Amino acid sequence: MVLLKGVSKPIYCIVAVAQNGVIGSQGRLPWHIPEDLTWFMDQTEGGVMIEGPNCYQELGKALPGRGTVVVSRNEQKSFPGAERAKNLNDAIALAQSLPWTGPIWITGGERIYAEGLPHCTKLYITRIHRDFMGDRYFPHDWSRHFTKKVWSKDGCEKDLSYTFEIWEK
Ligand SMILES: NC(=O)c1ccc[n+]([C@@H]2O[C@H](COP(=O)([O-])OP(=O)(O)OC[C@H]3O[C@@H](n4cnc5c(N)ncnc54)[C@H](OP(=O)(O)O)[C@@H]3O)[C@@H](O)[C@H]2O)c1
Repeated sequence: MVLLKGVSKPIYCIVAVAQNGVIGSQGRLPWHIPEDLTWFMDQTEGGVMIEGPNCYQELGKALPGRGTVVVSRNEQKSFPGAERAKNLNDAIALAQSLPWTGPIWITGGERIYAEGLPHCTKLYITRIHRDFMGDRYFPHDWSRHFTKKVWSKDGCEKDLSYTFEIWEK
């Protein structure tokens, strides 16, 4: 599909967060929630993901059916199947220019979320109702940027409950 000149893509953030703010542990997600993975794949399909190198490494590839821009200052690192940018602003400009018609998605990790959140007009957050041990966190003050919850749906995986929520500014 062809992008209309002058029409920019919206920028959204998507994340799953434990009750204590943890998003990752030793380069991995600390939980296994198939419904959340499906949610992530469905929402981001047709758009452009902006992620850090550790996230790219965790996924092991650029996901099919969407664009990917990896933000890295290290020119030695390669990201087959993805575009690269040396900072978040360049990544957003590049994502705007790619021929995917869906939104731009800020998909982590820790610093990309912290820098990207002020640019986002919507937050897709899966709130996991348990604390987890971890070493990566979502900005604790995210609700400063998003004040209106516009949608939510509860889910459960074995004895782990969670809620999908969409927030707007
Ligand atoms: N729960 C969730 O929804 C979710 C989502 C995503 C990730 N995660 C978790 O988070 C962890 C991975 O994230 P992470 O925080 O470790 O790593 P990351 O953001 O994927 O990568 C960190 C690297 O990104 C580059 N970078 C970050 N910010 C930059 C900037 N502003 N400008 C240029 N380069 C920048 C730097 O690498 P260079 O040295 O190459 O410049 C930095 O070392 C994993 O545990 C993963 O499971 C969880």
